[in-house]
Amino acid sequence: MANSIRTIGVLTSGGDAPGMNAAIRAVVREGLARGVKVKGIYRGYHGLLNEEIVDMDSRSVSDIIQRGGTILGTARCSEFMEREGQQRGADICRKHGIDGIVVIGGDGSYRGAQKLSHLGINTIGIPGTIDLDISSTDYTLGFDTAVNTAMEAIDKIRDTSSSHERCSVIEVMGRHAGYIALWCGVANGAEDILIPEKYDYNEMDVINNIIANRKKGKKHHLIINAEGIGHSISMARRIEAATGIETRATILGHMQRGGRPTCKDRFYGSMMGSYAADILIEGKTNRVVAVQHGEIVDIDIDEALTMKKNIDDYQYQVSKILGR
Ligand code: ADP
Ligand code: F6P
Repeated sequence: MANSIRTIGVLTSGGDAPGMNAAIRAVVREGLARGVKVKGIYRGYHGLLNEEIVDMDSRSVSDIIQRGGTILGTARCSEFMEREGQQRGADICRKHGIDGIVVIGGDGSYRGAQKLSHLGINTIGIPGTIDLDISSTDYTLGFDTAVNTAMEAIDKIRDTSSSHERCSVIEVMGRHAGYIALWCGVANGAEDILIPEKYDYNEMDVINNIIANRKKGKKHHLIINAEGIGHSISMARRIEAATGIETRATILGHMQRGGRPTCKDRFYGSMMGSYAADILIEGKTNRVVAVQHGEIVDIDIDEALTMKKNIDDYQYQVSKILGR
């Protein structure tokens, strides 16, 4: 019921992502505009259990929309995986008068939100991860910034790789998902894209491809390797030994997770943050905000967590053809 929600909280959890600040700002300002109090919870569920809770006003979220990271900080919290920790979290919410929480994070953070809502604290999730690997939504905050950061870095590697007529293995983030690798692979014109969802670990195919491309006159050979496959340095050594072509490995690492959010991440962060505050104040719980077919919608967390997301076969096939 709309009038039973008087105070809402907001936290960020799991890996940080550019655009989280825009979402925090929107939750705070939308909440205040709708007449509820808003509290910021630092360091995810870890901060909740340590009662790192502060009152937020409109000025608390000034000058943050353009910043990477999350002003609330984030953490992983093993204690919250246990029933006892979750119960303590719900009790702490009640102690601080928090009727509902917006949780910005990935699937793991959604599971925490689901537990809290089953313990009587209303929760709404917002998808925040650079990996794009949340099944319920077409978009996750941070992906656009991350792929643009990686794409620019890979362009630079391509310059030097061409000058030296080398092969380059470039490792991008994505422990379980190949979306960053696929998007950068296409956008950077990579010759090979290795992603956990599709790679058959037959390195001879990659090696034969390098040799064939060299015969065709290609000056460089870019291999975008997702973190989920990893081992880029030893892969580069093996490729050099098998092909005789100088090969270098670059692991882009956490630079992909930082930096000023793109317009898309600021815009979606703002819209999803406001939407989450609105439905929380309306009394909804155990829901996640999602982008589906260009529209912002909300769906049940239980349903969201059973959904599966797959790399699009057509996109993957195209990526292979265009890199030849
Ligand atoms: P992400 O939200 O990016 O997927 P994690 O999987 O690391 O990141 O989850 C973030 C945090 O969410 C965990 O450290 C933990 O505190 C909480 N969490 C994850 N899974 C569960 C679960 N099954 N039950 C309760 N809390 C969970
Ligand atoms: O945010 C997602 C992600 O970047 C994954 O691609 C990666 O595996 C993971 O986070 C690494 O996170 P951390 O180094 O913080 O444990």
